[in-house]
Amino acid sequence: TKKKKVEWVCSECGGTTVKWAGRCPHCGQWNTLKEFVVESGAAARFGDARHKGLVSASEVMDLNDVQAQEVPRIITGFQEFDRVMGGGLVAGGVSLIGGDPGIGKSTLLLQVMYRLVHQEVKCLYVSGEESPGQIALRAKRLGLEPQGLRLMSEIQLEKIEATLLTEKPQFVVIDSIQTLFSDQLESAPGSVTQVRECSARLTRIAKSSGITLIFVGHVTKEGSLAGPRVLEHIVDTVLYFEGDTHSNFRLIRAFKNRFGAVNELGVFAMTDRGLKGVNNPSAIFLSEHKSHVPGSVVMVTQEGTRPLLVEVQALVDASHQPSPKRLSVGIDQQRLSMLLAVLHRHAGLACYDQDVFVNAVGGVKITEPAADLAVLLAIYSSFRNKSLPEGLVVFGEVGLAGEIRPAPRGQERLKEAAKLGFSKAVIPRANAPKQPIEGLEIIAVDRLSNALDAVS
Ligand code: TYD
Ligand code: MG
Repeated sequence: TKKKKVEWVCSECGGTTVKWAGRCPHCGQWNTLKEFVVESGAAARFGDARHKGLVSASEVMDLNDVQAQEVPRIITGFQEFDRVMGGGLVAGGVSLIGGDPGIGKSTLLLQVMYRLVHQEVKCLYVSGEESPGQIALRAKRLGLEPQGLRLMSEIQLEKIEATLLTEKPQFVVIDSIQTLFSDQLESAPGSVTQVRECSARLTRIAKSSGITLIFVGHVTKEGSLAGPRVLEHIVDTVLYFEGDTHSNFRLIRAFKNRFGAVNELGVFAMTDRGLKGVNNPSAIFLSEHKSHVPGSVVMVTQEGTRPLLVEVQALVDASHQPSPKRLSVGIDQQRLSMLLAVLHRHAGLACYDQDVFVNAVGGVKITEPAADLAVLLAIYSSFRNKSLPEGLVVFGEVGLAGEIRPAPRGQERLKEAAKLGFSKAVIPRANAPKQPIEGLEIIAVDRLSNALDAVS
């Protein structure tokens, strides 16, 4: 008789345990462990055979003897997309594109596919969400003539696998991974078990037959991919749509990329004919208002390979609650608390009885510490209700001792700011350029207090 093997898989982090627990031992979330029955026939699949095809003959060798191979790229010609992918698609590369429903995942991939079809790349679009009629209608609305684009409305894994083997496409999109199910598993489509198994099996096929595969994944309200982040470990590249769903711009960020740089950002504008790449996005995150207002400052951030100018806004207002609010959008909340402490200690500005709100305009997420100085200057400006000098840009990390630390690629940031007509830059001393930059007055500072003096 076959023995059933049971595993518990966390729906938040994808971690597994052999025993049930109320709390996931990997990520600490409560009530997220789901039973995952591994039939003994299947046990072999999950056991040794599982990674067959993912790895080739495992011989130990000397790194000196290994030929370094440049991965051949398929350039789609859709520049912003090629950029986030690290310079085009890779044969056998498996990617995940995640984002909120309705943000434009299917539209983007249909456009990408259309370009590939024109380069005679054999493409297959597998949709579990839309009928062929709906997809044809979308293509028509986008003004695409996808002759030669192969289409399949299917959600059953085994049928898709069989089709991949007979059709032998070079590029496949699965829209979306959450709709797939394997009839060898008992759980429902969209469950961790199904998503994990389906993606692992398709990945294995892609790796062994050199298919470029892209999974579309929906993101839940909490911001994680519905169910499993397991997918992130399986695939080579993880891209997420980010930003404001209400804006006309769409940002795609590479969170993981085995074939390129992470944090690379692709910027698109939404039109009724689909997404259009924005090749020079440096100014799109500046708000519209012309005159200067208190609480607003422009920073130069370096997202991926390009400098971007982003307006950071702060509102500091007397609080009527015992514990005042600290809220930030696009900027790390913990970092905000830390910066407020630095502001108190090293500039004598106390916010313990103030609500503090900080926002990066346009829904862009700024993850680099070089945003610190901008956040603090915006807070300072709002607190004093005094606008900062006109034409000002800033960047720089602020340390716990109140020191201003340099940011990488300072020159590029300054040049971009000068190009867009900014006239004054408050920056870390170590980033001060050796040659003057035309039209840009540089104020190099060592300490937070110097920076505040410079703008007062
Ligand atoms: P869709 O690609 O279906 O989103 P997702 O696959 O992420 O759920 O796009 C949602 C809607 O927005 C769809 O009706 C098409 C429309 N849309 C445009 O009109 N222009 C665009 O540039 C984009 C991206 C979407
Ligand atoms: Mg869709």
